[in-house]
Amino acid sequence: MAAGAAVRAWMLVLCLWGAVTGDQNITARIGKPLVLNCKGAPKKPPQQLEWKLNTGRTEAWKVLSPQGDPWDSVARVLPNGSLLLPAVGIQDEGTFRCRATSRSGKETKSNYRVRVYQIPGKPEIVDPASELMAGVPNKVGTCVSEGGYPAGTLSWHLDGKTLTPDGKGVSVKEETKRHPETGLFTLHSELMVTPTRGGALHPTFSCSFTPGLPRRRALHTAPIQLRVWSEHRGGEGPSVGEHMSEYTVPLEEVQLVVEPEGGAVALGGTVTLTCEAPAQPPPQIHWIKDGRPLPLPPGPVLLLPEVGPEDQGTYSCVATHPSHGPQESGAVSISLIGSVEGPGLETLALSLGILGGLGTVALLIGVIMWHRRRQRRGQERKVPENQEEEEEERAELNQPEEPEAAESSTGGP
Ligand SMILES: *[C@@H]1O[C@H](CO)[C@@H](O)[C@H](O)[C@H]1NC(C)=O
Ligand SMILES: *[C@@H]1O[C@H](CO)[C@@H](O)[C@H](O)[C@H]1NC(C)=O
Repeated sequence: MAAGAAVRAWMLVLCLWGAVTGDQNITARIGKPLVLNCKGAPKKPPQQLEWKLNTGRTEAWKVLSPQGDPWDSVARVLPNGSLLLPAVGIQDEGTFRCRATSRSGKETKSNYRVRVYQIPGKPEIVDPASELMAGVPNKVGTCVSEGGYPAGTLSWHLDGKTLTPDGKGVSVKEETKRHPETGLFTLHSELMVTPTRGGALHPTFSCSFTPGLPRRRALHTAPIQLRVWSEHRGGEGPSVGEHMSEYTVPLEEVQLVVEPEGGAVALGGTVTLTCEAPAQPPPQIHWIKDGRPLPLPPGPVLLLPEVGPEDQGTYSCVATHPSHGPQESGAVSISLIGSVEGPGLETLALSLGILGGLGTVALLIGVIMWHRRRQRRGQERKVPENQEEEEEERAELNQPEEPEAAESSTGGP
């Protein structure tokens, strides 16, 4: 038993040791400066420290010291021992180490693993179809994401549910290109679907970009809504992807995605609310604003074009599934951010006016007080008992004597 405890204690020590010596993962945005701190280094020279880096720019380990020359414009050691990379590039991905000795002789090592990223532009659906024909493969559109690093991935969604290519009803053709100079990625993803009878009349498609680094946010395209026709127009009525209704997926979680993220939008901007309720068959989705149902036909996407003050509020969606009760998403609030036109300028002018007014009042009060004080001092010259008190006050405030005050103290009777 004691042996077991000892082993556990040792394992704990080893784990902690691993955490201490393990590389610290750093992600840095391409083109931005990066500062890596050399732990344990004295904050000012003289310092005993050495930086070592092995990146896409170095053949092997490159050594940099505070006394040494800066390395071109790529990296240099700052006076406080930190390493500065003024503008990080793809070639700066790699390992960075610093070994520092403190004034008391203690050695500390810092290990960093640096990865870089670039956020691509908002993905877009180019050449979208205007309508789909049931029973035959249709091209829905091509989703394009440009200028990202690392590559990341594109995925398609139908009515808020991720579409998985199955080679039958849904297929995706992907292409990844790399810019020869910048090294940034452009992704293309072309979606083909074969809608079959018996489903939604107006399926909504959207596409999203998932970054190649963890903990970075996905980016979504604006959704496109298409009309599905049966093979004989007007004959058998509208159809939808039957491949999607062949099986049943229970409704797990209803999620409300807002674009732009955070729900803050400028006056006249566009907000897209997408209710993600992945279930088969697809649930009916209704919208709620400030606790009241919105009088709209059911649908997974709520588009607010040209947002005005009346659109501000708290939104949520409710998914109703035949086999479950209704399920509500979390709420998001839509708000307007400072606009430059109309009311914005008026508010600014009003605030400036108030501030200006307050400033004038403060100035007036100051002038009056100053006058009173001068008057009082004038009186004090004739009342020497009060003089000591005033000296004390000045000493407390620890202010140098003004010429005027000196005059009053020497000029006493
Ligand atoms: C850093 O990333 C590597 C893989 O890239 C991982 O194995 C390691 O645990 C990470 N270290 C930390 C401290 O997160
Ligand atoms: C060293 O200086 C840089 C830039 O002035 C700063 O960003 C960094 O945090 C400093 N490092 C330490 C360890 O104080």
